[in-house]
Amino acid sequence: MEDRELLQMALKAKATAYAPYSRFEVGAALVTDRGKVYTGVNVENASLGATNCAERTAVFKAVSDGERKIAAIAVATDGDAIPYPCGICRQVLAEFGDAGMRIICGSSSGKFTVHTLGELLPHAFKLR
Ligand code: THU
Repeated sequence: MEDRELLQMALKAKATAYAPYSRFEVGAALVTDRGKVYTGVNVENASLGATNCAERTAVFKAVSDGERKIAAIAVATDGDAIPYPCGICRQVLAEFGDAGMRIICGSSSGKFTVHTLGELLPHAFKLR
């Protein structure tokens, strides 16, 4: 799966984001080591702390479907700014991938960056 293709899927997924409070709609798309693709969106809540980011939605869909290893994930928003995964999402990604996981961050403007999880979360906390 090409990084650009994954980013396009993240942009498309964004259409169903549930973000009535921040109006900041985010889409994510990941591919597992077995080549399966899952998308996710941010799901906000009136109790703001109960909000789930797009990346974690995609990860939880994949894991609940039996997948255990993520090869790459793309995250996308509208506008000019490049969205990077929050700290909680980085930690969740570290549970299901290694330091070489590609993280593609982009926007509808067409700009995007590619980093590894090891770059975005060095020395991740792991128990196994
Ligand atoms: N959000 C994501 O979905 N992913 C990120 O990487 C950062 C933030 C969401 C959470 C919330 O719904 C909105 O963006 C504003 O923080």
